[in-house]
Amino acid sequence: MQTMHLNEIAHSIKFELGHRVYFTRGVFGPDNRVLLDQLTLSGVLKPVRCLVFLDQGLLERNPFLIGQIRDYFGKYSSELQLASNPVWVPGGEDAKSGLNALGKVIEAIAQNHLCRHSFVITVGGGAVLDAVGLAASLVHRGLRQIRMPTTVLSQSDAGIGIKNGVNWGGQKNFLGSFQVPRAVINDFDLLESLGFDQRRDGTAEAVKVSLIRDREFFEWIEGNTRSILARGTDAMETLIRRCASLHLRQIAHGGDPFELGTSRPLDFGHWLAHKLEFLSEYRLSHGHAVAVGIAVDSLYSSRLGLLSVDQLERILFCLGELGFSLRVGNRLRLVGEGLIESLLEGISEFQEHLGGKLSLTLLKEIGNPIEVDEIDRYQMRQSIRKVIAGSFDF
Ligand SMILES: NC(=O)c1ccc[n+]([C@@H]2O[C@H](COP(=O)([O-])OP(=O)(O)OC[C@H]3O[C@@H](n4cnc5c(N)ncnc54)[C@H](O)[C@@H]3O)[C@@H](O)[C@H]2O)c1
Ligand SMILES: [Zn+2]
Repeated sequence: MQTMHLNEIAHSIKFELGHRVYFTRGVFGPDNRVLLDQLTLSGVLKPVRCLVFLDQGLLERNPFLIGQIRDYFGKYSSELQLASNPVWVPGGEDAKSGLNALGKVIEAIAQNHLCRHSFVITVGGGAVLDAVGLAASLVHRGLRQIRMPTTVLSQSDAGIGIKNGVNWGGQKNFLGSFQVPRAVINDFDLLESLGFDQRRDGTAEAVKVSLIRDREFFEWIEGNTRSILARGTDAMETLIRRCASLHLRQIAHGGDPFELGTSRPLDFGHWLAHKLEFLSEYRLSHGHAVAVGIAVDSLYSSRLGLLSVDQLERILFCLGELGFSLRVGNRLRLVGEGLIESLLEGISEFQEHLGGKLSLTLLKEIGNPIEVDEIDRYQMRQSIRKVIAGSFDF
């Protein structure tokens, strides 16, 4: 449809993107075709050139991965080609701290002459996915990507998101881009090498999305905290599938996948979380910081009379049962009022990141969020103080 005015030529540009998430085991096993099928979907030139980036923390605990990847590409050599040996990227927030890892990835892509028909395959936690994803989205204005998340948090949230980014100038995700990957492949076997804290961390995003989207899911989490954290049960997989599905639905059907509006409901608790991560010099993990952010915004919701005390206590108790200590004040590099004021700056940074007027997600009840556009700074200060001083630890 074309609209003509005297000084205007306008067309609408329409395109539709599929966003696919697969769950599997042994993704690089010789007979597993999930990856092969995604790389060779119609319209690609064969053999498909691929460059694989591996999270260093994952690799240290799974050194055999490189051999498995080589064997996999060897078996399907008529259809796939490994452009070089897999390239490692520092794991965790180091991948996103400034431009070093980003530069390394861009360099590797350039040296291997990947083109827009090539694929970047990233195997790692949310931080490595964010950094490699940004590099891949920049080179030639965007290479094709496959994301293989390897932490609970990234399989249920970060890897599903269509955002890339690195931290810069003291702000989380200050540089970033949007890109829909060709596919996200969640291999549950890759979670085996995670430690307790890493498994626990991923549950924070599940609590978050359940609180804003799905009361029944929250009730399931609060009734199954032990088995979710235990190894050898399938509760963790259930949590990942449900959490990933809620995130995917929000991105695909929430009406604003590229966040053009002012509200960002999936970021409940995140304005504070990002600031806590920064003020802990990233020693506090994203998942842990999100748990504290959820506690503060829930307490604040209750202090405003939106959320009942009973429901607030259930949320805080559930976070405690999942192994989160909310008393993180002594892990931050400021103290006292300076700390509280600095944390509050997170609200304006969050607003600036999105642009437009403030829009913060709070809770009316479990599963029922509300957007607000102003902050009662006294009540927010009190909420932060109480939570990070540990008055609410169970
Ligand atoms: N793009 C998005 O939409 C989005 C959404 C949520 C979070 N994030 C980002 O994700 C990051 C957090 O990601 P995360 O929680 O996955 O942690 P992470 O990427 O920081 O990784 C944590 C640690 O686990 C290691 N690791 C990764 N996989 C492993 C495995 N299978 N076995 C053993 N160790 C392993 C890493 O090397 C690292 O040391 C944050 O930077 C956050 O901002 C992005
Ligand atoms: Zn998050």
